[in-house]
Amino acid sequence: MTKRTHSCGELRQSHIGQTITLAGWVNAYRDHGGVAFVDLRDRSGISQAVFHPDFKDAHEIGRALRNEDVVMVTGSLRAREEGKVNPKMPTGEVELVVTSATLVNKADPVPFTPGQREVVAEDTRLKYRYLDMRRKELTDALISRHKVVKIMRDYCDAEGFLEIETPILYKSTPEGAREFLVPSRLHAGEFYALPQSPQLFKQVLMVGGLEKYMQIARCFRDEDLRADRQPEFTQLDIEMAFIDREDIIKLITGLFVRLWKEVLNIDLPQTFLRMTYQEAMDRFGIDRPDMRFGLELKDVSDWAKTTDATVFKSAVEAGGNVKLITVPGGGTSLTRKQLDALTEEAKKFGAKGLAYLKFGGDAGAGKMSGPVAKFISDAKQAELRALADAKDGDLILFTADKEAVCWRVLGELRQNIARQLKLIPEGGGGGWKFLWVTDFPSFDFDESTGRHVAKHHPFTAPMDEDIPMLDTAPTKVRAKAYDIVLNGIELGGGSIRIHQKDLQSKVFGLLGISPEDAQKKFAFLLDALRFGAPPMGGIALGVDRIVMLMLNRQSIRDVIAFPKTQSGTDLMTEAPSPVSPPQLIELSIATIVQKPVARSQ
Ligand code: AMO
Ligand code: AMP
Repeated sequence: MTKRTHSCGELRQSHIGQTITLAGWVNAYRDHGGVAFVDLRDRSGISQAVFHPDFKDAHEIGRALRNEDVVMVTGSLRAREEGKVNPKMPTGEVELVVTSATLVNKADPVPFTPGQREVVAEDTRLKYRYLDMRRKELTDALISRHKVVKIMRDYCDAEGFLEIETPILYKSTPEGAREFLVPSRLHAGEFYALPQSPQLFKQVLMVGGLEKYMQIARCFRDEDLRADRQPEFTQLDIEMAFIDREDIIKLITGLFVRLWKEVLNIDLPQTFLRMTYQEAMDRFGIDRPDMRFGLELKDVSDWAKTTDATVFKSAVEAGGNVKLITVPGGGTSLTRKQLDALTEEAKKFGAKGLAYLKFGGDAGAGKMSGPVAKFISDAKQAELRALADAKDGDLILFTADKEAVCWRVLGELRQNIARQLKLIPEGGGGGWKFLWVTDFPSFDFDESTGRHVAKHHPFTAPMDEDIPMLDTAPTKVRAKAYDIVLNGIELGGGSIRIHQKDLQSKVFGLLGISPEDAQKKFAFLLDALRFGAPPMGGIALGVDRIVMLMLNRQSIRDVIAFPKTQSGTDLMTEAPSPVSPPQLIELSIATIVQKPVARSQ
C-alpha cells in the first residue's frame, strides 16, 4: 500500500515543488470550469487538492468525490495564485496539484458534515459520534485531553508517584452516590458494584507501603446528570503517606500551574486564593463560589429583627436569618419581569419569597421602594444603606429563612444575576480564579432520616482539636478536607484520612453504621488499619471538568469521546439495552419490568 508522505495540516510554502502523498477525508469540494478543488482533511488539518483535466485519471476520480469519501492523492505542491491565498487556513498559501489519485472508500451521503456551519443537534452528533469527531472542535478537545492526562502522568512520575490500577469489579459500599451493580454468575444472587472512586483501594495501597499512588481512574456513579456530571467519568486520583494538607495543596497547585502553562500558555499565580468553608458560605452562600465577581451575601438578621417587616422578624424569631445581596445598579438594570423571574427561581430553591428594595428611582433620591419598604422606618433605611453598602440605583434582594435556605437561594441567585448582568468576563481571560476551600464540616445532619451523613466520605479525618466534639456536637466537627474550585465549579476534592481503627469505628458509629455492618462492608479496611496504617491523605481531580473549563466548553460531554446523554443513554451503541431471557437466567436475575421501558433521550 502506498503510504502518505505528509499530513494535510502541515503543508507550507517550504514544501513547494515537492512530490507529496496525502490521505484523508473530503471536507468540501467545488468545480471551477472543469477543475475540481477538494479540501482534504486528516487529524492535523486541511489542505487544498486541485484535480486538473491534464491528469485525466486523477481528474476523473477528483470530480466524483463527495463529502467524507476517503481518498489518497499524490501530486506536486505549488503556491496558490495571487488572490487565491486563504490567510485563514494554515495551509492557505499552497495547494497540491494531483497527478494520481485513489478512491480508498466511498462514503454514503452523511447526516451532517464535519465542516458545516449550521448547528447540528447534539443527539445527532452523539448518534454519529465518529462523524462528530472529525469536527475540529471535538478533535481539538480530544487532543487537549490527551495532553492534560499526559502532563498529569509526567508530573506525578517526576514527583515519585506510582501509577497503580485498582479493580473495576468492586464491592457495594456506601460512599455517597447510587452505585451501578454487576450481577455475579458464579455467585448467584450476589453482585459486584462498579467503584464510585478508588477511595478504599488507595488507602489500602498506603497501608501496603506504596507511599505515593496515582491513577487516571474511571469512576461510576448513578446520579442525576447535569452538564458537569456523567455516570462514568475520569479522575486523577492521588494518595500519599506521611503528608499533611499543605503537601497536597502544594502538589496540586503546582500541577494546575503546569497544565495551564503547557496547554494554554497561561501563567497562573504560584499560590491560589484560600477560604474556609464557613467563609465561603457566609460570603457566597455556596461552597464552590465563583470568584470572578462580587455580589457577596450579608447577614442582616440583627438589623431585620428590629424593623416592622413581619417576614423578617418572624424568620429571625424562629431561629432563622435574614441575608441579602446588593446588586449595584440593579434598581434600573433588572426589569420587573426579571425580578418576578428571580422570585420564581428563589422559590424553586426553597424560598418562601424574595423581598427586594430599590434605592432611589421612582421613590426619589435617598428613598426606598419595594414590597417591604413601608415596614422600614427612615432610620432603619439609613442603617440598611450603610450595612448593605448601597446607593441610589442599587437593588437589594432578601431571603428570610433558615440559614441553609438563605445560603442556597442567594448563592444560586448570585450566579444567575451575574450571568444576566454580564458580570462574568467572557472566555477564560481574567477569569482563572482558582480557590482552595478548606475546613469543611465533617458531617451534615439529614433531617429527613434523623441521621448524620458524612459531608465528604466516612474515611475523612476530623480536625484533631475537634475530635472531642464527636461525642457532644458532631455537626460542629470540622474535617481535614479540601476542595479545589474554579469559576464556580468543583474541580477536585480530598482529605487527610482516618488511619486509626478506633477513630474509624467511632465515625462509622456516628454515621449510624453498626459494628456488624461496618464489619460486613469494611472488614478489610478495619483490618488494614490494625496492621500499621501510616497517616495518609489524597485528592481526586475531575479530568473531564478540568478539560471542559480549560477549553471553555459548556458541558463535559464536549470533551469526552463517547459520552452519555442527560438520561444516561449512549445514542451510538444504544446502551443500556434489554438482554435476552437466557442471559438473565444464567445470571439468576429476574426483572420486574415486563417490557423494556420506552426511553426518552
Ligand atoms: P469526589 O466525590 O469529590 O471525591 O470527586 C472528585 C472529583 O471528581 C469529579 N466528579 C465528577 N466528574 C464528572 N461527573 C461526575 N458524576 C463526577 N463526580 C465527581 C469532580 C470532583 O471534584 N474519593 C474522593 C477523593 C478523595 O477523597 O481523595 C472522591 O471521589 O471534579
Ligand atoms: P408578603 O408579606 O407575603 O406579602 O411578602 C412581602 C414580600 O416579601 C414579597 O415580595 C415576598 O416575595 C417577600 N417574602 C415573603 N416571604 C419571604 C421570605 N421568607 N424571605 C424573603 N422574602 C420573602
